[in-house]
Amino acid sequence: MVIIGAGPAGTTLGLMLQKQGVDCLILERQSRDYVLSRIRAGVLEWGSVEILERLGVAVRLHAEGHIHKGVSIGWAGSQVLDVDMLALTGKPMVAYGQTEIQKDLYDAADERGLPIVFEADVTLHGVDSDRPSVAYETHSGSELVHCRLVAGCDGYHGVSRITVPQEAKTEYEKSYPFGWMGILSETPPLPQLLYANNERGFALCSERNPMLSRYYVQCPLDDTVDEWPDERFWEELLARVPASAAERIVTGPSIEKSIAPLRSYVVEPMQWGNLYLAGDAAHIVPPTGAKGLNLALSDVHYLAEAMVASAGGDRSLLDGYSDRALQRVWSSVRFSWFMTMLLHRFPDQTPFEQKTQEKDLEYLASSVAAQTSMAEQYVGLPL
Ligand code: APR
Ligand code: PHB
Repeated sequence: MVIIGAGPAGTTLGLMLQKQGVDCLILERQSRDYVLSRIRAGVLEWGSVEILERLGVAVRLHAEGHIHKGVSIGWAGSQVLDVDMLALTGKPMVAYGQTEIQKDLYDAADERGLPIVFEADVTLHGVDSDRPSVAYETHSGSELVHCRLVAGCDGYHGVSRITVPQEAKTEYEKSYPFGWMGILSETPPLPQLLYANNERGFALCSERNPMLSRYYVQCPLDDTVDEWPDERFWEELLARVPASAAERIVTGPSIEKSIAPLRSYVVEPMQWGNLYLAGDAAHIVPPTGAKGLNLALSDVHYLAEAMVASAGGDRSLLDGYSDRALQRVWSSVRFSWFMTMLLHRFPDQTPFEQKTQEKDLEYLASSVAAQTSMAEQYVGLPL
């Protein structure tokens, strides 16, 4: 097998296949340091924790990750709802940065001799035929690899998805009219994740570890980082969260700052010939609900199972991979859309829409059934 992309999806898939005795090679466009320096979301569903445990890469996650029983939601200035996901579903979530997971995956790949070629310029050939091949070029020359199957785990900007011809795919897309301005600061985080819907816009308080906080505020799509000096960021964050949280937030200099647009995207089917897409190569979700990494892990869980079965001569799981994975993809795409719509202020929101959004939040606060519905989707539906 050849796996394109050594992000969380590709590296996890490689380790899963290797564990089952299936040979594979991973080709990554960027350098190892570049991949390890990307700052991404950091909340794991319990099912994702179990996937990483089964792979034997969860030791540091358990030692350093922070178990969260639930999340808080602030709205209408001072209202705060604590959704106790553990009590409602029996499952907690774990805060552990994707950067740390990526490091643990690469360390395991090193120890176990899983081959990953970095800084490889990849082209795919004949993936819709019985004899696919992958050509790649690195500083040390060109190679051509023949293989049975190709896994496209190369994110939204990779080569895999665009190799599938337009007439063989259907794309579903929704853009949201804002972005998230995010910072990291070496300050103690709030004890629990807090999402806030405020008339000035959405805000989120999250964490990476006991001395590293991650905060976000909703901002216009055309804003740049230069327009958000630290003082402006903190002022805006503190104005958007309920006073009870604002007085507990410890501010400090930012050590990283970036703006990301929000959008939902799905390509169907997630396979074409002998090419199988997984993770961001097949779908993007807005970060509200932290589903991106979790979906990447559930895709490769299904794909590894199917590839292992096919190595033993049974292709039925491979043939059904896309249908199976898309069930879970659409659940998370719908949930991330729902959380985004519930918690943000839209520039063109009418007074009617504003009233119904407020009612949604009041209903959530008053109904255990509504909180249970949110909780079971947030902690993750079963695989
Ligand atoms: N050839 C080889 N590798 C490529 C190519 C290419 N042409 N194009 C992109 N890549 C690599 C990228 O450099 C990246 O390291 O594929 C990898 C894809 O990794 P991610 O973007 O992290 O995607 P994925 O592994 O699916 O993980 C999804 O990451 O983007 C977040 O929110 C998302 O948390 C989710 C997770
Ligand atoms: C994060 O910690 O970066 C984070 C947490 C929750 C989200 C999105 C991002 O919904």
